[in-house]
Amino acid sequence: MRIAVIGSGYVGLPTACGLASFGNEVTCIDNNEDKLKVLRSGIIPLYEEGLQELYESVKDKLTFTGDMSSVKNAELIILAVGTPMSDDGSANLQYIYQATEDIKPYLQSGSIVATKSTVPIGTNDEIERIINRTDITVVSMPEFLREGYALYDFFNPDRIIIGTDNVAVYEKLRNLYVPHIPAEKIIRTNRHSAELIKYASNAFLATKIHFINEISDLCEQIDADVADVAAGMGLDSRIGRKFLNAGIGYGGSCFPKDTNALEYMANKNGVKLSLVSSTIKGNYERRFNIAERVNKYIARIGETARVAALGLAFKNGTDDIRYSPAIDIIKNIKHNQIYAYDPRAMDNARKELGANVIFTDTLKDCVKDADIIVILTEWPDFKELENMNFEKETIILDYRNILDEAVMRAKSNVIYKRIGQKI
Ligand code: UGA
Repeated sequence: MRIAVIGSGYVGLPTACGLASFGNEVTCIDNNEDKLKVLRSGIIPLYEEGLQELYESVKDKLTFTGDMSSVKNAELIILAVGTPMSDDGSANLQYIYQATEDIKPYLQSGSIVATKSTVPIGTNDEIERIINRTDITVVSMPEFLREGYALYDFFNPDRIIIGTDNVAVYEKLRNLYVPHIPAEKIIRTNRHSAELIKYASNAFLATKIHFINEISDLCEQIDADVADVAAGMGLDSRIGRKFLNAGIGYGGSCFPKDTNALEYMANKNGVKLSLVSSTIKGNYERRFNIAERVNKYIARIGETARVAALGLAFKNGTDDIRYSPAIDIIKNIKHNQIYAYDPRAMDNARKELGANVIFTDTLKDCVKDADIIVILTEWPDFKELENMNFEKETIILDYRNILDEAVMRAKSNVIYKRIGQKI
């Protein structure tokens, strides 16, 4: 199939490369000329595991352009532009509607417009209204890729949702994936259901995280251990162990914006989503509460405390710091000097953090002579701490519970604290 993907970001690029690897001819259209230059020079301008390699192997099936008129050659146009959060919590749809206006003059009869951007219920109706042609079908095809695992998720999806009433168009889109993806993972719904599946899924996962974080707080008061509680709960197949990792709260470009947009949508429709609302509030407050904990440890040592913050990205496997709780926590640590390290997100974080943050080139440099080490992102790289010796007393605040507890407790000079254990 000849496909055009509008938007070359965290969703557009993995989708384009993945579809090209299935043998399709894919044109990536983006209005950022600097990004296009980098892409044309053979470099993927964001970090996503395996994407650079995949890109190199499918290069002959990919074209990058800023020219919207190339849409006229495509049978399928995928909208994968951003829908960031507006100040009132709603999704900002300016880019999606602009992209629709931009492609409109060039759409060929019979082509399909599929929206992969996360968009509020009814947005595809509006896209259809803007295009205003009976020979074009607008489909909601929400994306469930996780950053850092986007290619794994592309090739091993839990489900592919195709939101359309048009069965022939559904079959066409289904054939794009089968036989590469098992047919039983592909389902058809109406457009509104497809749009809502995406929001409801993200909100459910966000709520699951917030739930375990609240249970974690309770564990700290009653001498229980959240890791054991999560393990015990997770063995119930109705609950499942995934997304029960207590920590510093969720971040990223998806959960914060999508929970807010869902709450906004529900309010507009006169429905109260009290669980979602309390998740949004509790998750946001959590980062300040965590910063306060660190401040208390610093106060015990005083101004001379050497503090090392490990992790800046909103999670491991990415260089993305959007709505990263780690960034807000560091901003709220009251100290004149904080050493910081992240395997991927330093360049992005440099633009965000103040002069009191000193970025180090390596993990070792960051934790050298530290009085307090605080782990804020669940990078497996930080497990290197298990192999280190500490020459002076060091408080390690493992706020992602990633280190081996027995190993860390056996270390001399280390006071090891985990999240969700008695304080
Ligand atoms: C999320 C969804 O998982 C994807 O399915 C979806 O496609 C994507 O949003 C999107 O809407 O585009 P992503 O934002 O990449 O993916 O990240 P997740 O892996 O879901 O993690 C989100 C946040 O939750 C991170 O800050 C992570 O550290 C945190 N988290 C996750 C926890 O604190 N505990 C957990 O147990 C799991």
